[in-house]
Amino acid sequence: MTATATRSLTVTEAIQTRRSIRKFVQEPMNQDDLREILRLASLAPTANNVQPTRFAVIQNPELQEKLQAAAYNQSQVTSAPAVIVVYSDMEDVLQNAEETVHPGMGEEQITARAAGLRKNFEGQDVAQRGQWGLTQANIAFGFVMLAARGLGYDTVPMLGFDPEKVRELLGLPAHVQFAGMLPVGKRAEEGFPHHRHSVERITTFY
Ligand SMILES: Cc1cc2nc3c(=O)[nH]c(=O)nc-3n(C[C@H](O)[C@H](O)[C@H](O)COP(=O)(O)O)c2cc1C
Repeated sequence: MTATATRSLTVTEAIQTRRSIRKFVQEPMNQDDLREILRLASLAPTANNVQPTRFAVIQNPELQEKLQAAAYNQSQVTSAPAVIVVYSDMEDVLQNAEETVHPGMGEEQITARAAGLRKNFEGQDVAQRGQWGLTQANIAFGFVMLAARGLGYDTVPMLGFDPEKVRELLGLPAHVQFAGMLPVGKRAEEGFPHHRHSVERITTFY
């Protein structure tokens, strides 16, 4: 399949036109576009480049039904042709810490830096470093929304779900932390115009 997007939106256009969409056109997701959205989101930065963000992509109506039930029956989960679950897995990072070091560094540096990374987190328990990993995955969560919009797709960010049930449905270990769930597809409704604080209300200029 070829990418459907004829022109990518500018970052400004993507930010300006993104809004939560809960009803989607009933057509399968273009798989090239889906992969491009994930590729762009994988370029999100992380501290020390540790990259704890992981994606689970669901395009299976039966599994979407179950996810919808775990999301307090919010209908956007089955309306969308695909659902991207964004989560962090710090235990995977630490077990495979060598992967996060640039291969050009050479074996000695890779070993030393991976050991340094493990040492940084050894004082934290699984829950603490899980929370830290989540702060990183949250950045990628935002990138997914804007990458999707940039390619002409829409999303709705969701945290209204039972994490235990979603972990179980996706076969994920107990330590992973969810940034959120993102139904994605082409909009079949307009959504609501932005209602936001003014810059003056939320900013202090020093
Ligand atoms: C982290 C997060 C979790 C959210 N969870 C839900 C949700 O479970 N269900 C839902 O319908 N909308 C959810 N929303 C969407 C918000 O209601 C929406 O982003 C907000 O009202 C602003 O509207 P806009 O996205 O159209 O600009 C969530 C948004 C964020 C950022």
